[in-house]
Amino acid sequence: MRAVSYRGPSKLRVVDKPEPHIEDPGDAIVRITRTAICGSDLHLYHGYVPDTRVGSTFGHEFAGVVSEVGFAVEHLRPGDRVVVPFNIACGHCFFCARDLYASCENSNPHSDLMGGVYGYSHTTGGYEGGQAEYVRVPFADVGPMKIPDDMTEEDVLFLSDILPTGYQAADMGAIERGETVVVFGCGPVGLFAQQSAWLLGAGRVIAVDDVDYRLQFARRHPGTEIVNFAEVDDVVAHLKRLTEGRGADVCIDAVGLEASGSVSHRLLGATMLQAGSANVLGWAIDTARRGGRVSVVGVYGPPWNLVPIGTAMNKGLTLRMGQCNVKRYMAELLQHIRDGRVDVKALVTHRLPLEAAPEAYEMFARKEDRCIKCVLIPEAA
Ligand SMILES: NC(=O)c1ccc[n+]([C@@H]2O[C@H](COP(=O)([O-])OP(=O)(O)OC[C@H]3O[C@@H](n4cnc5c(N)ncnc54)[C@H](O)[C@@H]3O)[C@@H](O)[C@H]2O)c1
Ligand SMILES: [Zn+2]
Ligand SMILES: [Zn+2]
Repeated sequence: MRAVSYRGPSKLRVVDKPEPHIEDPGDAIVRITRTAICGSDLHLYHGYVPDTRVGSTFGHEFAGVVSEVGFAVEHLRPGDRVVVPFNIACGHCFFCARDLYASCENSNPHSDLMGGVYGYSHTTGGYEGGQAEYVRVPFADVGPMKIPDDMTEEDVLFLSDILPTGYQAADMGAIERGETVVVFGCGPVGLFAQQSAWLLGAGRVIAVDDVDYRLQFARRHPGTEIVNFAEVDDVVAHLKRLTEGRGADVCIDAVGLEASGSVSHRLLGATMLQAGSANVLGWAIDTARRGGRVSVVGVYGPPWNLVPIGTAMNKGLTLRMGQCNVKRYMAELLQHIRDGRVDVKALVTHRLPLEAAPEAYEMFARKEDRCIKCVLIPEAA
């Protein structure tokens, strides 16, 4: 089969690879019809995630058609169309039983941090990803959601990650009706976090980024205010001025470890004194009002980052964070898509053949051609 293959930082190729096969009776093989590139893939692509091995295939956002199932699989049959959460979860361990699918203790048993993820380095289990023609799906009765007959793969593709992640970001903010929510980041995750904040009752949503076309996209949602952090002297002071001097009730970090906007954080990252740049985490903590909430879905890699914990402590903030527990939100968000309360397809700026993956990564990483979200389509789809 054809598959994206990592060749080292900022280098990808599309190569021939053996097709995956059933390794466990609970596995399914899925023929990919749509797969997307995520901001999280950029952290891998840029070499920030430990133990990302040359030759591995990325891709944790995909939908397709079941081509084969192991004998223990009960709920799927060849021919079923499915969308698959990025978390690999066993469905019955201590964490899965609590809906904490990102923390499954059986899908990545050698880690102290988290469960398995498709195509996301050996630190998350070394599973092959879905930027390929086929992928092996372990615990096939647990994660995959059958796609309703009247919906396309693209209608539901973002249920695999970015829509639930944006929604969980807002959910962790415990937004009360009328509250003000600042969302750092207007990538796909930030944009969905903004839409979700409105869905969950926010009275004001302020979107922050420095990429103008993404800010303009954020502003398409009626009521969303925008701030270009590169156009103000001090973004925290500016946001405080917009929020009666007190700060926002809720701040969401939808940027993570590759934030721009701070020379000192960049230097600390470049000299390996911390992992990447953590300035958005600091901005979120500084911008939240006393007693407010900070919700972090932007990814930070181990080992550590400079965090103004004294500020958070003395302001009495609640910090919540995590990888998204995708399965928990799928049914609810499917209904929001059906009812037209979230417009998922509007984010897709590029549909490209799988063979164009190297150029697609480059374009998405450099934010060229007004790129927001790239969907890759294998030839046989
Ligand atoms: N927690 C999870 O389960 C989960 C799931 C998916 C993605 N993520 C993470 O969410 C983050 C965003 O993902 P994405 O797909 O939207 O990525 P993206 O790279 O498309 O978007 C990031 C955006 O942040 C902006 N940005 C950079 N520095 C900023 C700053 N200082 N202030 C405000 N905005 C700034 C960029 O211009 C860009 O528009 C990534 O870290 C990704 O790894 C987490
Ligand atoms: Zn992702
Ligand atoms: Zn589990």
